[in-house]
Amino acid sequence: MAQLAERPAAATPRIGKQGDACVMVIFGAAGDLTARLLIPALYNLARADLLSKEFAVLGVARAPMTDEDFRKRILDDVKEYCGECINSETWENFSRRFYYFAGNFGDDQLYPKIKDRLVQIDRDHSTHQNFFYYMATAPSFFGPIVEKLAAKGLMEQSNDHWRRVIIEKPFGHDLESAKALNQQLLKLADEKQIYRIDHYLGKETVQNIMAFRFANGIFEPIWNRRYIDHVQISVAETVGVEGRGSYFEHAGSLRDMVPNHIMQLISLTAMEPPISFDANAVRDEQAKILHAIQPISDQEVLTRSVRGQYGEGTAGGENVPGYRSEPDVAPDSRTETFVAMKLLIDNWRWADVPFYLRTGKRMPARNTHIVIQFRQAPFVLFRDTSVEHLMPNQLVLHIQPEEGISLQFAAKVPGPVMRLGTVDMNFEYQEYFGKQPSTGYERLLHDCMIGDQTLFQRADMVEAGWTVVNPMLDLWKALPPRNFPNYASGTWGPKEADELLERDGRRWRNFEK
Ligand code: BG6
Repeated sequence: MAQLAERPAAATPRIGKQGDACVMVIFGAAGDLTARLLIPALYNLARADLLSKEFAVLGVARAPMTDEDFRKRILDDVKEYCGECINSETWENFSRRFYYFAGNFGDDQLYPKIKDRLVQIDRDHSTHQNFFYYMATAPSFFGPIVEKLAAKGLMEQSNDHWRRVIIEKPFGHDLESAKALNQQLLKLADEKQIYRIDHYLGKETVQNIMAFRFANGIFEPIWNRRYIDHVQISVAETVGVEGRGSYFEHAGSLRDMVPNHIMQLISLTAMEPPISFDANAVRDEQAKILHAIQPISDQEVLTRSVRGQYGEGTAGGENVPGYRSEPDVAPDSRTETFVAMKLLIDNWRWADVPFYLRTGKRMPARNTHIVIQFRQAPFVLFRDTSVEHLMPNQLVLHIQPEEGISLQFAAKVPGPVMRLGTVDMNFEYQEYFGKQPSTGYERLLHDCMIGDQTLFQRADMVEAGWTVVNPMLDLWKALPPRNFPNYASGTWGPKEADELLERDGRRWRNFEK
């Protein structure tokens, strides 16, 4: 285990400034995202004293409910998903800020009523007319809701108050639709008002990629093609589609994970140091990387990408059905639940360094990690010893569920002859910093309240992500897969994914834990 510097002092209740006075309007307030993530995240912010004393929430959804019903419901959500006992004083103060309004998002008549309700809440809680709208709805509502809000003057800002909108994923379903949605939104609001969320950027370990690279003098000089052989990014999940068959049938793993979450991981790993932590300085560098990803030709789609679909097999020791037997999935579905690919980044730092990516459902372990494999040391020194080969150094950024960083290097095995073994130097977040209750949405919601867009996607970044995957979407559509299902649940995907690396003389690093 690594020797660590002195531990920080016990966690202070509040690290950072409180959010601005504001009302958060949640469209889709009766849904799963609100219950599982948004409400628990708000509660965690309240406990950390990061919400303004002048904060309130207006939930909007179709289900008929009174304010009281809504408050009871969020109490259940917090109990179920926060996993912490509720402090009655914090709860009292928190829940009285919640209001609810039932209505149909497509109905023009709803918006003047929302406006009236907001005027009332603003008066009662002195929220300075700062409003932000969270689109926890089906994607088809994103554009129409913002349009109707704008028509009622609810997107208008002034020097005294701000208006913002948080858009959930999926942001479009291909390049064309993402561009159309950007155009629609940018007619109604300024880019500075639009917060395109990607929950991967709320993860501590993802944010830490930047701290690790740029706050440490020792890594940056070797973070390039001269020293790095290749990079692997794996996002493995043990779950199947979990009742989301009707969504997943139209999405598939490529759309679901790559243009968004995996592009975040690539851009943070590969970007140049930004000149500051200003939102646009960081996002400019991320965008440059996305633009530098080499476009893939049709021929290369065939040789550099792999798709798969899980068949029956096991998960957590239980037998589980194949994807085609999941609810709301066609019995002859061609939707992929696994994707792997090799990308190249055309810039001076990364030319010829492959980035291998893979993501899949029903893998043997839930594990998201980034492996930086360094070039091998020259063998010269060991020529006259019994050492047969040298293992390359690997630096692994463990994103989840283990959160930490490990470095693999060679060491002499004790004894009279020169033998080498591979050892690991490990840093584990939890061991050092303890466990913080977090859903991953706290930081993102708080950032929106203080107007910091650094961890949100700009229009050009979303489009650049889609540009990378669009050739695959097109070719895969034109050439339906013939061998689905092609991997058993509980395995690391189709054999073609292993061959993708083996052809280059490399291997995936699998973490079974
Ligand atoms: C979501 C995808 O965006 O991310 C899901 O729609 C996926 O299919 C999930 O399971 C993975 O998120 P996490 O935080 O569990 O890695």
